[in-house]
Amino acid sequence: MSKLLSYLYPITKKIQSEFSGILEITWYNGKKHLNTKNANYSYGSLQRILKFGLEKIDLKKVNSILLLGLGGGSVIETLRHDFSYANHITAVDIDPTVIEIAKNEFNLKEDEHLKIICEDALLFMQLNNQQFDLIIIDLFIDVDVPKQFLAIPFWNDILGASATNGTILFNASLDKTKSNALNDVIEFLKSHMYHTEVFEKVNTTNTLVLSKGL
Ligand SMILES: C[S@@+](CC[C@H](N)C(=O)[O-])C[C@H]1O[C@@H](n2cnc3c(N)ncnc32)[C@H](O)[C@@H]1O
Repeated sequence: MSKLLSYLYPITKKIQSEFSGILEITWYNGKKHLNTKNANYSYGSLQRILKFGLEKIDLKKVNSILLLGLGGGSVIETLRHDFSYANHITAVDIDPTVIEIAKNEFNLKEDEHLKIICEDALLFMQLNNQQFDLIIIDLFIDVDVPKQFLAIPFWNDILGASATNGTILFNASLDKTKSNALNDVIEFLKSHMYHTEVFEKVNTTNTLVLSKGL
């Protein structure tokens, strides 16, 4: 019923989260979205932005993915349905409310192909000793990428977790211009033999960084 009515007007359910304020689950034109006060977290424009990056990656060579920032899990839907990706995904999110929403509202299920970990991504990366063919970094609190994810110690850990010839896809900001911190990250990746491309105003808003180990 909500789905049908959403073609006439958006229908929103609000849930308080400890980390991201009020989260809104909105049915709009027959599809559910996850939003914060100022940002789309999952499905909608966020999903299109990450799909733009995934189109530039040869996913046939990818056997393992680390997703930092699960949200409602829309990139998992894209990987599975648009790119037929059927290998393993490890997903990390700091917010237990978001993880519950992913499971209960967006039907995400943990199984042998998907492991969900409720953890601060910074700490997870410090303790991690696995390597992944593709690392997707999509960490936001509302419209902001927390500053620790634009600092070199985090990126050192990311390179340690990136398999030989691995790929990193970073949803870097909603800013129109690149920040100094983001420029430092880009230079760091290049100096570690990662071929790094920057796409600005993807879907008219976000900066995406795509980096491949040489
Ligand atoms: C834009 S949403 C992710 C959307 C998701 N990738 C998708 O495809 O639907 C950003 C997520 O980053 C998570 N996040 C923010 N800070 C974090 C942190 N320190 N550690 C782990 N997750 C964090 C938020 O809880 C939020 O769920």
